[in-house]
Amino acid sequence: MSDARPIRYPLALDTIDRADLLALSRWLMTSPRLTKGRLTVELEARWSSLLGRRYSVFCNSGSSANLLMYAALLERGRLRNRRVVVPSVGWATTLAPAMQLGFEPILCEADRETFGLDLDHLESLLKRHRPAAVALVQVLGVPHRMPAIRALQDRYGFFLLEDACAAVGSSAYGRPVGSFGDMSSFSFYYGHQISTIEGGMVSTDDKRLNDLLLMLRSHGWSKDLDRRTHAALVREHGIDDFHAPFVFYVPGYNLRSTDLNAFIGLRQIRRLGSIARARGRHHERYRRHLGERFTVQRCEDPKAVIASISFGLLAVDAEDRRAVVSALAAAGVETRIFSAGNLGLHPFWYKRFGRARFPMADRIHACGFFLPNHPSFGPGDVDFISRVVLGAACAAAR
Ligand SMILES: Cc1ncc(COP(=O)(O)O)c(C=O)c1O
Repeated sequence: MSDARPIRYPLALDTIDRADLLALSRWLMTSPRLTKGRLTVELEARWSSLLGRRYSVFCNSGSSANLLMYAALLERGRLRNRRVVVPSVGWATTLAPAMQLGFEPILCEADRETFGLDLDHLESLLKRHRPAAVALVQVLGVPHRMPAIRALQDRYGFFLLEDACAAVGSSAYGRPVGSFGDMSSFSFYYGHQISTIEGGMVSTDDKRLNDLLLMLRSHGWSKDLDRRTHAALVREHGIDDFHAPFVFYVPGYNLRSTDLNAFIGLRQIRRLGSIARARGRHHERYRRHLGERFTVQRCEDPKAVIASISFGLLAVDAEDRRAVVSALAAAGVETRIFSAGNLGLHPFWYKRFGRARFPMADRIHACGFFLPNHPSFGPGDVDFISRVVLGAACAAAR
């Protein structure tokens, strides 16, 4: 990497702009409540209406959102077993909470088109293990084959946990990505489609799951529930008024965010539509430039908006990737491996379960890399980066 130049095109750029910071400073000067409060509830309501879902719970990261989904599923009970199918190509914290909470995770091969779950492999796992749950990742914002997954859900019956952490703003099959799972998670980390500095959300249509998510997020108490549900719990357990605010119904965490983060989130989501369209245009432009020479993700819905967080692609082999990566570094374009590659090749997995190898996930591990996508880019930026990649690839082929 000695030929690396100063970074001209970083992979992540902040979406919190000067206007956000000025508005935040003005708001801070009014001495508002900074911890979780009214603005958090407002952000949750706006998020639900944006997705067309009934409930949303704001928390302090996408990883916490994933943890909350698994914990709520466990706490709800009545699971036929603890088995959960998880993608081999996803993020560490798509999978880690399953390991922490005593689920039995089963890794699934990656799909050749979307890089999400390979549906043939998924179906064979469903037949063999009858898992209670399936976690899927909407990989980098490229929508999964949702009609086929819903059909498998009808046939085999499982809870669908949709990790849409990197797919905020994408849509397909006429619906926002993140509206398909029994619970869906989102991340608002720095450099993602929108940011609350750190932040995450879980959305669901199920009232019972929502109540559990709210209690699990905050110590296990019922204070954040609607008044009727809180009162019903107090009655059911025969609790007096003095104790009522400090009674703990589930073994909870503290995964709350704050109203400061919610203030930023409320401003950010106003821009989500334009951000998603811009990311979608750049994604499509990259795909046109690079889709023949490289393996790129594809979505079967031609009307999908792919608000990709980065543009992910696969070189022909590891040697080809090395050539492209050093050309990108020399041109000041930041790059990295494709997400986490194959999670089954990471120590946290193989120390417990042994290495898990799958042809496509291994290819993504060995040959995948990211290109920057950001709403502030113009077409010329995508063209320039694509030329660097193609130039290096041609040289490597000679
Ligand atoms: C698919 C996926 N899940 C979960 C996360 C975790 O989100 P966070 O960084 O907000 O914890 C990420 C982060 O990028 C992600 O890409």
